[in-house]
Amino acid sequence: MKGLLLSGGRGTRLRPITHTSAKQLVPVANKPVLFYGIEALRDAGITDIGIIVGDTQEEIRRACGDGARFGVKLTYIHQAEPLGLAHAVLTAREYLADSDFVMYLGDNLIISGIKELVHKYQTEKSNAMVLLARVPNPNQFGVAELKDGKVFRLVEKPKEPKSDLALVGVYMFDKLVMKAASSIQPSARGELEITDAIQWLVDQGHRVNPHIVTGWWKDTGKLEDMLEANRMILATMERRIAGSVDAASCLEDKVVIEEGAQIVNSTIRGPAIIGRNTRIENSYVGPFTSIYYNCLVRSSEIEHSILLEESKVLDIRRRIEDSLIGKNVTISRSPARPKALRFMLGDNSSVGVS
Ligand code: G1P
Repeated sequence: MKGLLLSGGRGTRLRPITHTSAKQLVPVANKPVLFYGIEALRDAGITDIGIIVGDTQEEIRRACGDGARFGVKLTYIHQAEPLGLAHAVLTAREYLADSDFVMYLGDNLIISGIKELVHKYQTEKSNAMVLLARVPNPNQFGVAELKDGKVFRLVEKPKEPKSDLALVGVYMFDKLVMKAASSIQPSARGELEITDAIQWLVDQGHRVNPHIVTGWWKDTGKLEDMLEANRMILATMERRIAGSVDAASCLEDKVVIEEGAQIVNSTIRGPAIIGRNTRIENSYVGPFTSIYYNCLVRSSEIEHSILLEESKVLDIRRRIEDSLIGKNVTISRSPARPKALRFMLGDNSSVGVS
């Protein structure tokens, strides 16, 4: 069985971060979301993985390489335009070459992995298997209706959902999906929807088996989901101190201090992770915070947030919470008069001041 990992798309719901970076590379607990997908496939025994890439292909290639560091073989497949998930499948036709495959959306996180699901698909021998999860907001997903335990209808982002069963971004297919993907028409949003391709399989009388996921799953396309994913993963981490911590500092509960990080006269209350060569000085880092590499936090407080690489938070007296701060950002106190808030923010930024 092969893997098809989707890492194209524009990530509009995570702007401005995605103006300059791929959404799949935003770190959750200091590891890009996409890496969790590669590892989930590998742990399910799938080591031949095609990655669909788009505009952000250079960055994705640089981050993942040939896959050797994960113990897999990665093949990059360029999708010239993000024309939908079923279009991505058609783009990978040559690579997939009639093989069964797991399609995994690169911004999805399933905490318990997919090993058992892949095994189930292989033993059931259906034409497709869809993963479903109960959600409070089904209109933001593909939604499934089941009848006698079988998939009966699938609708992409319905205005009036008929159930609360959302399609999780992990699917298993045999080669019939190629025929399905080439038989459907673009949706109202102009995309060839995988949801419609699966409906085609159902309509043609092929076997589409559902599997309801009861463990934690998240599509990390939005800020709140990103922060939730960060909370979930941090909560599973073990304490590990590789960097330096001075005598005036205090590390509470599950804290990871990565290599070369320096904690000076500060309190870190876990679960939290401080990245490589980051310095935390005279500060407080609260629960559910991930600070990536080469950052500086000085005389400030930050909690329940994600800070990307090379960023600085300097002398901020109010505690920063619920925030996703991009790469190479500086937030600092300015002595300049008149006393005022001064911003230089990218397009689609969002700032909350109280
Ligand atoms: C896609 C699928 C949708 C599915 C979701 C899961 O939506 O089209 O059916 O429920 O992924 O993450 P998108 O995130 O591309 O809008």
